[in-house]
Amino acid sequence: MAQRNGMKRIEALLAAMTLEEKIGQLTMVSFGWSETGPNKSVDIRAEIRAGRIGSLLNIWGADETRAIQRLAVEETRLGVPLLLAFDVLHGHRTIFPIPLAEAALFDPAAWERTAREAALEAAADGIALTFAPMLDVSRDPRWGRIAEGPGEDPVLAALFAEAKVRGFQGGDLASAGSLAATAKHIGAYGAVTAGRDYASVDISDRALHEVYLPPFRAAVAAGAAAVMPAFSDLAGTPASANATLLRGLLRERWGFEGVVVSDHGAVAELVVHGVAADLAEAAALALAAGVDIDMMGMAYAQGLVPALERGRVDMGAIDAAVRRVLQLKESLGLFDDPYRRGSAAGAAAGAASRGALARDVARRSIVLLTNNGVLPLARDLRRIAVVGPLAMAAADMLGPWAGAGDPARAVTMVAGLRAALPQCEVVFAAGVEVDSGETRGMIEEALAACRAAEVVVLCLGEGAQMSGEAASRAQPDLPGRQRQFAEAVLAVGRPVVALLSSGRPLMVPWLIARADAVLATWFLGSEAGHAVADVLTGRWNPSGRLPLSWPVDTGQIPIFYGQRRTGRPADPAERYSSKYIDAPAAPLFPFGHGLSYTRFTLSDLQVAPAVAGPHDRVTVAVTVANEGPVDGEETVLLFVHDLVASVARPVLELKGMAKVRLAPGERQVLHLILPVDDLAFLDLDLKPRLEPGAFKVYVGPAADPERLLEASLSVVGD
Ligand code: NOJ
Repeated sequence: MAQRNGMKRIEALLAAMTLEEKIGQLTMVSFGWSETGPNKSVDIRAEIRAGRIGSLLNIWGADETRAIQRLAVEETRLGVPLLLAFDVLHGHRTIFPIPLAEAALFDPAAWERTAREAALEAAADGIALTFAPMLDVSRDPRWGRIAEGPGEDPVLAALFAEAKVRGFQGGDLASAGSLAATAKHIGAYGAVTAGRDYASVDISDRALHEVYLPPFRAAVAAGAAAVMPAFSDLAGTPASANATLLRGLLRERWGFEGVVVSDHGAVAELVVHGVAADLAEAAALALAAGVDIDMMGMAYAQGLVPALERGRVDMGAIDAAVRRVLQLKESLGLFDDPYRRGSAAGAAAGAASRGALARDVARRSIVLLTNNGVLPLARDLRRIAVVGPLAMAAADMLGPWAGAGDPARAVTMVAGLRAALPQCEVVFAAGVEVDSGETRGMIEEALAACRAAEVVVLCLGEGAQMSGEAASRAQPDLPGRQRQFAEAVLAVGRPVVALLSSGRPLMVPWLIARADAVLATWFLGSEAGHAVADVLTGRWNPSGRLPLSWPVDTGQIPIFYGQRRTGRPADPAERYSSKYIDAPAAPLFPFGHGLSYTRFTLSDLQVAPAVAGPHDRVTVAVTVANEGPVDGEETVLLFVHDLVASVARPVLELKGMAKVRLAPGERQVLHLILPVDDLAFLDLDLKPRLEPGAFKVYVGPAADPERLLEASLSVVGD
């Protein structure tokens, strides 16, 4: 009934709208635009009143959003509410770890929980649509935006996608605490050439469908309300003009009925790409491809009327896009109550428990890369030195998409360690700047602190703005004078625990070889320092696992575990094999790597039935034992290899995962389910096909051939 009323309302509005008002519904602008942007002369409020703007981004706050919404509802001819949008990538006011860090949890329930809490906070600030989750699989740490996504693996990314969509949208999109989620950026953005942001993508259809699209398909299946095409072109067709992708695949094959919102200015950029001569052609191309909302391009605003006049678009296509936008507003409950989101009380509620969640997820995101026994820190330490440019860098802890987070309230490494070690003197010295700067005297001061300390915590890495959008790096290592500083600290001779804050794996093999322990601490959000202290002191036994392969050298990029065997697999003893003569072929740390303070063993792998047919469900059982001294959480990964297939299959493909918490001496048998149909792959026509034959089933902690248990599975035909 409610749905029928909604449809009636939409059709009535469509019938009443002028062309200008329709185009307004397809136009999204940034709230800051009229104050700071290139179009300062535009009075954004006047544009809203005239019905020329249907949605806004970059505005939040209960009062601010209510005031602007009131203009649309009370002062426009038809009273259509605005869609208010914001990038809530990893938290809104409470900032959680960056998505790449959160991916290290391998834990969909946690991913969902942080999205849910972020949605509650953002909705209380009046937001109804978020441009998240970012689902770009990437195998290139040069690309700064690898920080925003779930890493290298399509299966992990698909699980991440579902969890985030569920978390943001909740059970009912219309509820006051729900946000519409945007799966972004469809079109293999993570494969930009040489990791350079916005560059072209030119990959095989197989890679597109097997690696880059699965998380989007999963997001759509989970009910994502919106999808955003990438800035990049795919073999010459910019994603915003890609009808095959947006109409053929997304809408027709996957059945997506939501809204496609362009990226910032991307419709107008079709002119710059060189596929449209002017804004009218750009608007026509994007609309035909299936883009409903033009974010900040003003191409629809300026180009759709001339495009209509030239016969490049028809009213039917405009109406269809407007209908979808109105439908989204309807689903969000905006027509019934445009102010149901945006309550100051709502924003404050739950803040304390969100802090606890942020701390817990942050400590679980930390990956212990190496440890010679220096960690956990001895309980009787009297003096430690916490040095390096990321030791007291509150704003950097939040990472590149800090949302509405307050940098001043982020917990630094120094603050976290001081709180955790009240009996110990924690001496801070930055030593050097993150990226540059005059450091006269600073290094000496820091070295003196190191000499006087029992243990040194060396806080290195990137500034928050060195990853994320437009932050590609040709050399993802330590910027500025940090290496020089780190070498000097190592030369002091005290035990050194190195923390790497970054939005990507940093290529610092020299540091990893020489420090006593190294941890990937990413950008952990509001509670960073507490989370790090929890891990260093052993209050939390580290459990994070790498969601991507950590290269030794930039020359190995792109690097990922799901490679094909090739005709000449890497063999150190064989020159004519697939390797480098000046670097190893394997990563420094494989996908899934992450140490613990306890010792887990896996044994007794059983696959039943060992001969299975289509639609069967195979049970993969493995015994996990905690043979070390403390409680811990182990993540077990299930991989397969299809030995002989009509298309060569990767040597390892992730098919499942499980987590278990065990006390010292405890053991448990885990059962992972492997549906035989999951062994299908895309045939030469890119159609799913299950080929009978021999498979290897592997279970282990990481995509490390040396640490995998192996069993056989035979798949027979119907
Ligand atoms: C550009 C980014 O590519 C996109 O991810 C983001 O959602 C928009 N800007 C809006 O901020």
